[in-house]
Amino acid sequence: MAQVTPAQRLFDLSGEVALVTGASSGLGRRFAQVLAAHGAKVVAAARRSERLAALAEEHPAILPLVLDVTDTASFPAALEEAERLAGSLSLLLNNAGIASGRRILDTPEEEWRAVQQANVDSVWHLSRAFAARLAGAKRPGAIINIASLVAERVGVSSAAYAVSKAAVLHMTKAQALEWARHGIRVNAICPGYIHSEMTDAYLASPAGQEMIRRIPQRRAGDPSDLDGALLLLAAPRASGFMTGASVFVDGGHSLA
Ligand SMILES: NC(=O)c1ccc[n+]([C@@H]2O[C@H](COP(=O)([O-])OP(=O)(O)OC[C@H]3O[C@@H](n4cnc5c(N)ncnc54)[C@H](OP(=O)(O)O)[C@@H]3O)[C@@H](O)[C@H]2O)c1
Repeated sequence: MAQVTPAQRLFDLSGEVALVTGASSGLGRRFAQVLAAHGAKVVAAARRSERLAALAEEHPAILPLVLDVTDTASFPAALEEAERLAGSLSLLLNNAGIASGRRILDTPEEEWRAVQQANVDSVWHLSRAFAARLAGAKRPGAIINIASLVAERVGVSSAAYAVSKAAVLHMTKAQALEWARHGIRVNAICPGYIHSEMTDAYLASPAGQEMIRRIPQRRAGDPSDLDGALLLLAAPRASGFMTGASVFVDGGHSLA
């Protein structure tokens, strides 16, 4: 009988230390909970400190860190602080992001810049700082970038956001190519519509309900629908030979 690693061990994250951005709500909050439940130490980062404190109360392995991902100059100190809190980082989850819901001609310059800063510049700079740190110490690791269904398909009234997520997807591939030599795997999750503070008002609206009818599975996702993709990409035993991949979790929306 061939030796088979049991699933519990395959997805065991004991010894992993993760930094999750945008952990104060929605997907990021769930990612922090799932990683901690599987044995990782998790530094949960965002701006709203009271939300982070409440999350940290839930699990002793979740440690809060106030971080604004648009403040790129603060990243080296933030990584230093994350390692002081939790030990040597092995996983970065670039999840923080903001939406924009306007047509191109109606999008003010400040909104375009804000979306690219929060969704693209942040991933570029934080990933660089993280990879430089690991490469310098000759430590392997992984990055998971949260892109989106709209990284590959566009819709009306979400151009600035869709362009930012397309950049994240392309960045994932470029990072994977350059950092494989340092033992750093880089993959993306592309969620479809998932219930969160970002989407709930839209999903409840008549336009949102109409859109849900066009999703092959006829529903929006719950943050827990991403648990499997997250664990797959986070666990070195499960995805040690995966890099540059994008996992779509969208109820079949990208096919419709
Ligand atoms: N929900 C969906 O349907 C869906 C689909 C595809 C992709 N996504 C992506 O998934 C990620 C999470 O979205 P979500 O749905 O969970 O939305 P959400 O509930 O609004 O959460 C967004 C998170 O990002 C953080 N954030 C925003 N700007 C930040 C900044 N400047 N510095 C630090 N943190 C910042 C927020 O924390 P603070 O405000 O406390 O800083 C919050 O924790 C985003 O990248 C989003 O684009 C979501």
